[in-house]
Amino acid sequence: MHAVAQIWSPDSWRKKPIVQVPAYPDPAALAAVEKRLKTLPPLVFAGEARNLTAALAQVSQGKAFLLQGGDCAESFAEFSANNIRDAFCVFLSMATVLTFAADVPVVKVGRIAGQFAKPRSDDNEKQGDVVLPSYRGDIINGEEFTAQARVPDPQRMLSAYFQAASTANLVRAFATGGYADLSRARHWFLDHNHPDLERRYNEVVDKIDEGVDFLRTFSLANAVKQQTSRVDFYFSHEALLLPYEEALTRQDSITKDHYATSAHMIWIGDRTRQPDGAHVEFCRGVKNPIGLKCGPSMSEDDLIKLIAVLNPKNEAGRLTLICRFGADKVGEKLPRLIRAVQKEGANVVWSSDPMHGNTVKSNNGFKTRHVERVIKEVKSFFEVHRAEGTHAGGVHFEMTGQDVTECLGGAQAISESDLASRYDTRCDPRLNASQSLELAFLMADSLRAERMKGAGLAQSA
Ligand code: PEP
Ligand code: CO
Repeated sequence: MHAVAQIWSPDSWRKKPIVQVPAYPDPAALAAVEKRLKTLPPLVFAGEARNLTAALAQVSQGKAFLLQGGDCAESFAEFSANNIRDAFCVFLSMATVLTFAADVPVVKVGRIAGQFAKPRSDDNEKQGDVVLPSYRGDIINGEEFTAQARVPDPQRMLSAYFQAASTANLVRAFATGGYADLSRARHWFLDHNHPDLERRYNEVVDKIDEGVDFLRTFSLANAVKQQTSRVDFYFSHEALLLPYEEALTRQDSITKDHYATSAHMIWIGDRTRQPDGAHVEFCRGVKNPIGLKCGPSMSEDDLIKLIAVLNPKNEAGRLTLICRFGADKVGEKLPRLIRAVQKEGANVVWSSDPMHGNTVKSNNGFKTRHVERVIKEVKSFFEVHRAEGTHAGGVHFEMTGQDVTECLGGAQAISESDLASRYDTRCDPRLNASQSLELAFLMADSLRAERMKGAGLAQSA
């Protein structure tokens, strides 16, 4: 039985049950900020969001691979051109490896230019005898452990909007203005302390150069230039802070559809995906591509219900299921969800977030993740899809171009005692540049194997 479609409007979420809401002390100040945001220009154009939907439709059919990643949370303090450049570089180096070592087009989506709001497991944080509201991301309150910093301040939404606009501007300039030209691929490698990784990366770049030279000999230089001088790069974040999202929702003049213009793609977090809740209500009505985090508690029934609400027309590219079960649970949870989705004939992109189900506390008190567990979850994700005959469409990472020590292991063999040296994250531990690139090589191997199998070429090993 299908329920009669309910009328949607950018503010219809306000009538639904909601979780993870900041307690703004001054409703008039909040309303004033929302009013101002409504007058400000959109950060993305609806046509770009449609292009991303089309690219994700390719991913859903196994013709492209989704690489989504970036900071757990952007912050006001770490906002700088160098940080943006390095985040972009690590992304491009990973995409280079995936594109050319695995021979698959990569759809590039950053957790950037708006990834500020954080859901929290606890409303409060206790330090010693003092209990204060939890930090919810720079768009809401301050990280400093003082009563004053922790009060939600709506003005922060405006700061976040302007920072997102400025970040988006620089990323767009890098993506189209020459920085991302494939002839510069060698310069995207960031961490020169890892000769093995650098050698592997340079081998890929050598092959690209050879290929480009080869095409030039056929006088295809102009065609090659057109294809390799720029990249399409998209922005995404969790649509958690709904007053902000609503205020940046615009009706597209061409199609009359509503779009969240805070980013090309937005996603619903694992804590806010109640089928009848406010976050799902908001996302169902905007036409952007939508991500849905699927954690261990996601039942088949709930998933099918959510798919019906979020993608009633079963459009390819509209919905990306971002699975974050934890390395030990993928093998059990994922096949059940895949089978339920297959049974419905639902079009989805399957993506793996191998970060959020593998967070642990180190013996010396740091929130961390073992690279080994992250790798294990990604590998299992690929294996399950191979067994089910479905496409492992993409990955979703928390990563940074900075040489941080937040996740354990990897080629640098970061140990618990190293964690303190460069632990800079605002929220969850991120892969650093070399750990991210290692993962790209590993995924390239899996993807190549999948493609060879698809092409009927038997793998000997
Ligand atoms: C996140 O992506 O930062 C996050 C909070 O994820 P999840 O909703 O999957 O816990
Ligand atoms: Co996170």
